Amino acid sequence: MRIVLVGPPGAGKGTQAAFLAKKLSIPHISTGDLFRANISQGTDLGKQAKSYMDAGNLVPDEVTIAMAKDRMAQQDAVNGFLLDGFPRNVSQAEALDLALKADDVSLDAVLDLEVPEGEVVKRIAGRRTCRNDSSHVFHVTYSPPKKEGVCDVCGGELYQREDDSEATVRNRLNVYHTQTEPIIDHYRAQDLVVTISALGKVEEVTERALAALKDKQ
Ligand code: AP5
Ligand code: ZN
Repeated sequence: MRIVLVGPPGAGKGTQAAFLAKKLSIPHISTGDLFRANISQGTDLGKQAKSYMDAGNLVPDEVTIAMAKDRMAQQDAVNGFLLDGFPRNVSQAEALDLALKADDVSLDAVLDLEVPEGEVVKRIAGRRTCRNDSSHVFHVTYSPPKKEGVCDVCGGELYQREDDSEATVRNRLNVYHTQTEPIIDHYRAQDLVVTISALGKVEEVTERALAALKDKQ
């Protein structure tokens, strides 16, 4: 399946993507994780992205689209993928449409995670991320690691992301409403959108997502 995951910052996209990708045997492609890996490796791409990310703004399309296309062209994504954090505005969505069309394939579903703003703020405030791999994510109360400050998966140090400060989160939410939400209408016109509530336990949300995706298979 080819799936796009959308939802506000802190909705649980990365958390759900990890389970869904495993269950559906497709790679989880997160542009946020790709940028953070580039930043920690000190690449030129990471240097270009860092200031935008720290401020909670979108990294320019040119850089982002090239990176996403590159990743989607890898062998493990030939038969499907779960995109998390891409596309994030209408021009990225149009670029993705064109790239898929050129390969004679198309999306199966756009899974829209709905969460009230108050809950998103709580989820982000308590989030702790692994320094070795930003897809290893915990929450101080909702999903605490076995040992405080230590990643259960790889033993790495847990920290609070630079863009998780209150002021930056406010800007990220604003960017989401003004730039990302319009892609939902873009995909509604293609009859791809399934909206689910992302409230409740992680496993409950995964079940809800899998049930919603069944209709699109
Ligand atoms: P990105 O990394 O994509 O951040 P985001 O979209 O803001 O999403 P988050 O990672 O904050 O949240 P999430 O929805 O994955 O939630 P999570 O699962 O961690 O992007 C970061 C930046 O990169 C952007 O601001 C931009 O600068 C740049 N960027 C990325 N893609 C780009 C693009 N396409 N174009 C341009 N720029 C781009 O969950 C949050 C917390 O809640 C965790 O602690 C988790 O444990 C907890 N939690 C999850 N589910 C539940 C649950 N059901 N109940 C209780 N707690 C839960
Ligand atoms: Zn880790």
